[in-house]
Amino acid sequence: MKNTQLRLGRRPQGEATMEDFEVTSEDIPDLGPGEVLVQNHYISIDPSSRTHWNDGQSYRAMMQIGEIVDVGTGGEVIASNNPDFAVGDMVTGGLGIQEYGISDGTNLQKADLSLAPLTSWMGGLGITGLTAYFGLLDVGKPQPGETVVVTGAAGAVGMIVGQIARIKGARAVGIAGSDEKCRFLTEELGFDGAVNYKDDLYGGLRECTPKRIDVIFDNIGGPMLDTIMRRLALRSRIVISGATSQYNTDDIYGPKNYLALATMRARMEGFIIFDYTDQYQKAREDMAGWMKEGKLKFRENLMDGRVEDYPAVLHSLYEGSNTGKMLMRLPAAQA
Ligand SMILES: NC(=O)c1ccc[n+]([C@@H]2O[C@H](COP(=O)([O-])OP(=O)(O)OC[C@H]3O[C@@H](n4cnc5c(N)ncnc54)[C@H](OP(=O)(O)O)[C@@H]3O)[C@@H](O)[C@H]2O)c1
Repeated sequence: MKNTQLRLGRRPQGEATMEDFEVTSEDIPDLGPGEVLVQNHYISIDPSSRTHWNDGQSYRAMMQIGEIVDVGTGGEVIASNNPDFAVGDMVTGGLGIQEYGISDGTNLQKADLSLAPLTSWMGGLGITGLTAYFGLLDVGKPQPGETVVVTGAAGAVGMIVGQIARIKGARAVGIAGSDEKCRFLTEELGFDGAVNYKDDLYGGLRECTPKRIDVIFDNIGGPMLDTIMRRLALRSRIVISGATSQYNTDDIYGPKNYLALATMRARMEGFIIFDYTDQYQKAREDMAGWMKEGKLKFRENLMDGRVEDYPAVLHSLYEGSNTGKMLMRLPAAQA
């Protein structure tokens, strides 16, 4: 049986294109002791993946040329020499962009389909949901009655941030790139307000945040963050989750409005989700409970594609085509 894979061919300049990758096809080897063979159904589409293809240092090892592109996956166990995994188990993990992956089981988690579909275990109950949970609750620490503003609000992380803010008694205001996304936030997810940043960002924000902003949860960065910082309240907190607007450039735009931190006695702090690994279980229990109570909704945005379609699907994410967690659905899961 053949396995099609996508490998890093060279380090991209600016946004990655198909020319930066190489498609390979290999025979699937026999399984060794303790190994599991997974047929991938879904590939996680994440803006930060682009940052791992650069040269240099980060919070995790950079990918090397020739390696299979390292992203989150979801799929079905189709052969197993591991007593912890049975044929038919649905699992999430980090098997990379390929049709099949072999694992010793240490980077796989079984998805409880009685609770939520596999796609939700890659989104709301997966890394992006956990990022929202810990970034907001451990770093932002919203208090009842406070106002939380989240950028990239209709995306995988952002949509969960606003809902958890409301569960904790805070007001949630989302910033997103279209009126349709703003309606999704207020009408479907219950955000208190939403602003389309392509219209009048500061004017919209002033209307939606009459008591100014206590927590900014920032996924986007760039000049947008400067504008939002003009509305900071006293002793406010800015959570740096990411900076999607800056991932395809070497000419990074840093906050120019940083003196607002002094004026408002505010704090800006970043975090990386992998520091919370030992607390994932508790967070998932909380989120599953909120989901059952109808207080927390997930949305996945599935795009059909093959391994070699990944660069085009990632490009559409940067263009803002997604609402919710974006996943590429491989032929194994397509109807
Ligand atoms: N700290 C951590 O441990 C951690 C872990 C996971 C993810 N993150 C970060 O969380 C952030 C959100 O990730 P996600 O998976 O939820 O992505 P996402 O928000 O689902 O998808 C990207 C969205 O960003 C917006 N966008 C894209 N390019 C933009 C640009 N140039 N300027 C302004 N907006 C742009 C688009 O929305 P609009 O249509 O609204 O513009 C797009 O839909 C990322 O920065 C990611 O790196 C951090």
